[in-house]
Amino acid sequence: MRARSPKPKPHDPVDLRRIVRLFRPHRGRIAIVAGLIGLSALLGLAQPFLLREIIDVALPNDDTALLTYLVLGMVGAAMLGSVIDVWQSWQSNVVGQNVMHGLRASVYDHLQKMSLAFFTKTRGGEVQSRIANDIGAMQGVVTSTVTSLVGALTTVIATLVAMIALDWRLALATLAVVPFFVWLSRTVGDQRRRITAERQRRMADMSAMVEENLSIGGIVLGRTMGRGTDLRGEFSQTSADVADLEVRAAMAGRWRMASVQLAFAALPALVYWIAGYANARGSGFITIGTLVAFTTLQTRLLMPMITLLRLGIQLQSSLALFTRVFEYLDTPVDLIEPKDPVAVDASSVRGEMRFEGLTFAYDEARSGDALKGIDLTVPSGTTLAVVGATGSGKTTLGYLAARLYDPTGGRVTIDGHDLRDLSPETRAQLVGVVSQETHLLHATVAENLRFARPDATDEELRAAARAAQIDDLLSSLPDGYDTVVGERGYRFSGGERQRLAIARIVLRDPPVLILDEATSALDTKTELAVQEALDALSAGRTTIAIAHRLSTIAGADQIAVLDHGEVVELGTHDELAAAGGAYAALLAASRREPEAEPAL
Ligand SMILES: Nc1ncnc2c1ncn2[C@@H]1O[C@H](COP(=O)(O)OP(=O)(O)OP(=O)(O)O)[C@@H](O)[C@H]1O
Ligand SMILES: [Mg+2]
Repeated sequence: MRARSPKPKPHDPVDLRRIVRLFRPHRGRIAIVAGLIGLSALLGLAQPFLLREIIDVALPNDDTALLTYLVLGMVGAAMLGSVIDVWQSWQSNVVGQNVMHGLRASVYDHLQKMSLAFFTKTRGGEVQSRIANDIGAMQGVVTSTVTSLVGALTTVIATLVAMIALDWRLALATLAVVPFFVWLSRTVGDQRRRITAERQRRMADMSAMVEENLSIGGIVLGRTMGRGTDLRGEFSQTSADVADLEVRAAMAGRWRMASVQLAFAALPALVYWIAGYANARGSGFITIGTLVAFTTLQTRLLMPMITLLRLGIQLQSSLALFTRVFEYLDTPVDLIEPKDPVAVDASSVRGEMRFEGLTFAYDEARSGDALKGIDLTVPSGTTLAVVGATGSGKTTLGYLAARLYDPTGGRVTIDGHDLRDLSPETRAQLVGVVSQETHLLHATVAENLRFARPDATDEELRAAARAAQIDDLLSSLPDGYDTVVGERGYRFSGGERQRLAIARIVLRDPPVLILDEATSALDTKTELAVQEALDALSAGRTTIAIAHRLSTIAGADQIAVLDHGEVVELGTHDELAAAGGAYAALLAASRREPEAEPAL
């Protein structure tokens, strides 16, 4: 199975300004955080100066009063610092979580607007993985970035200023290590970024495998094809890859990072050496207090320096995550909703459906047209049956009638309004679809029905179920309408699921109906029940029935025969049967093999 997703281009450019823009709405909070951090950094800096005073003034002079004040100052500054830190980390968590929430919500919104084409091309689990794994992995970066970055930066700058104030020569010696740090952060960051991209891709592979193989359809397929062992092996391999990549991500640059500690251990020694030389040569005396204060500052520099390094690295590896998420946000919406939709009063709609010069291709470059120059008019309240061999474009025509795709040429109208000029809400009010495969949510029957109309009363649900010939069955279940339908409705049989779908449409009560009959044969009794439910549903509505059952077809006001995406015949059952063309041939074939019903 498709275990590996395709590798992206090696260097995916991410606009850093775009990431900054995500934080823009939270400017106020970020300013507060920055202020708090600055305050805490300054408080921290007071310590070495207080220390110098203790060593150089209070202790040698036995000034106990000054000593007490200085010590109280040190303790007080430390306490205030911790309070500020807690408050500040609360604020920055709020900012970080809000940014992630915004991203998740906008990816979901964006994908909701996509046409079916996007979903037919995207494997199951991939979308879920990007929303959960990729945005989830940003958490560490996004929530800690603001705090750590500002915190570390202010501490580093303030410490350097303090160092210069103490003794500029020693400060200069300390600064010599900075270029080494920059180089380190760049190389390790690059490496980490590559590993992260690969890790997220393999995690998406893993999600896709769970989604595809640990679903009911997937289990049935895997078991019956005897591929269980292979699938387990494949999953185990992917999981091992992810584990390996995690270790590599954690270990990337660890040795180089360790050298930072080494550099810092060497720095105080260097300072003592320089101070000793300077004092011996008499070029500006450095007091013991200054030396102690300075080396204290140096140790204070270590943590924020490491934080900055780690942040640089984290930020670079998070670019891989942002790339994956932005990729979805940048996928153009292919169903553009009108800016100001035509206002249509659903109650006064007659429901005349027209296809005018309709052409459609799933993929213009590769396959040919799935529909070519379709011209059909379905007058209000009448039924058009669409028949044709498998793959002739029947379902496609139904999709276009509900604007699940946009035509490549021509248009579809209801009462003269192009579907593209109607708001999605109006369209959903006007056109109801019972698709070839019923999709049920993992919820109770009642919740599934209410998906069609959230405010429906229990009585309305029952009335709809009665109209769909499913009330008897539902009422006989131990939990009745509160029965959980199971994943994708596997709890129910095919015929039952169809009738649940019909009940949903009854609740919506749209003037135009698209019925894509399932090809799967139902037993005669169920078939009759479904048929009656459909007849009741389509009575008085404009109906486009993609039909296989002769009874539906023969009773239709018009029959259109599709062949390779073209309407080759149009007329009533009697006309077409007498004409001796494509329809007559299909009819003859279905009579010869009533069980198989190859085309009708
Ligand atoms: N998402 C897609 N991408 C590319 N081609 C597609 C896609 N969906 C359908 N097709 C192709 O478009 C053609 C028409 O498909 P369609 O599903 O409309 O057939 P149909 O008449 O409904 O067949 P059936 O009776 O088997 O349901 C087929 O050749 C099919 O392979
Ligand atoms: Mg079909």
